[in-house]
Amino acid sequence: MAITPGKRMLRALKGERLDKPPFWLMRQAGRYLPEYREIRSQAGGFLDLCFSPKLACEVTLQPIRRYGMDAAILFSDILIVPYGLGQGVAFKEGEGPVLDPVRNASDLSRLSLDGFHERVAPVYETVSRIAEALPKETTLIGFAGSPWTVATYIAEGGGSKEFVAVKRWAYGDPEGFGQLIDLLVEATVSYLSHQVEAGAEVLQLFDSWAGALPEPGFRRWCIEPTIRIVAALKARHPDIPIIGFPRGAGTLYVPYATETGIDAVSLDTTVSVAWAAEALQSKLPVQGNLDPILLVAGGDALDREVERILSGFSGGAHIFNLGHGVTQTTPPETVERLARRLRA
Ligand code: CP3
Repeated sequence: MAITPGKRMLRALKGERLDKPPFWLMRQAGRYLPEYREIRSQAGGFLDLCFSPKLACEVTLQPIRRYGMDAAILFSDILIVPYGLGQGVAFKEGEGPVLDPVRNASDLSRLSLDGFHERVAPVYETVSRIAEALPKETTLIGFAGSPWTVATYIAEGGGSKEFVAVKRWAYGDPEGFGQLIDLLVEATVSYLSHQVEAGAEVLQLFDSWAGALPEPGFRRWCIEPTIRIVAALKARHPDIPIIGFPRGAGTLYVPYATETGIDAVSLDTTVSVAWAAEALQSKLPVQGNLDPILLVAGGDALDREVERILSGFSGGAHIFNLGHGVTQTTPPETVERLARRLRA
């Protein structure tokens, strides 16, 4: 049988069904790897690591060296965009991110695109370095947070469970909140465009908190901005594949996947495999959706779930991944076990 040329990840994104699906893992670089913790302690703060092209390139490559994933994802963070827009962003040990909250139209005047690219320029240099250093079969993924998810951090001033500040703004002053979303759309398009120019071959949009919105809000603050981002990126870079990850979207995965113009959709852990094969994979490639905690548990539970997902998505284009990021307490050995199975 003829072998189609090209990287496996890019073939799957074009809709090809591969006998062994390509794989990578969200948050594949990070604290579960001892060699990451080593570099992280050399860098000082987390933002220092993100803004050191040499070290950020090194930690991007670490999981590829160990496990040979089909794709590497730029080591950075979705909160680089608010930082680039002039918001104060800090990562406090054990606390997660802390931002100076922007909660209304008058706070919004503190954010602007002036100087954005100068502030985030080291990220573009990291992308070029990774592009240069990767094995020829490995695909480089660039990324950004989606406007809604980034807006939750901007307005809450950090992580949130109830999203009271961001929703009060969105529901109480949709026009004013729309200006924040518009600014994020513009920044995201420009930021991702620069990543493509520096060597990113695929882009992923992380809408990690999409599931916090009821349908009208989901359509207005997740689907609509994504339509605009995808259209603008494709106008500049017609061939760039874009993966969307509207985590927690439930049945709204269908309009998200079919109306935004994305090339593939990343499924969270709760999405039914049989449902997704029918409702989504029949229309576009799917990525996912192993529970990351199975990489902590390991053993038969892990093996069984891997088989279930592989067989459930074997009828079409599939990129094997987790339903969310690798968690810190993951033993590197279970990732090895998974990688061996996916290569077998
Ligand atoms: O390997 C990769 O996937 C690439 C790197 C990456 C990071 N963050 C590194 C990181 C990516 C793609 C992200 C995206 C990101 N960041 C998201 C979307 C995906 C998701 O998980 O839902 C979100 C919501 C963030 C915001 C963020 N960054 C939080 C809430 C935290 C603190 C939580 C934590 O795990 O500590 C971060 C910090 C962060 N981003 C770390 C890493 C490796 C840990 C920082 C450290 O080393 O101390």
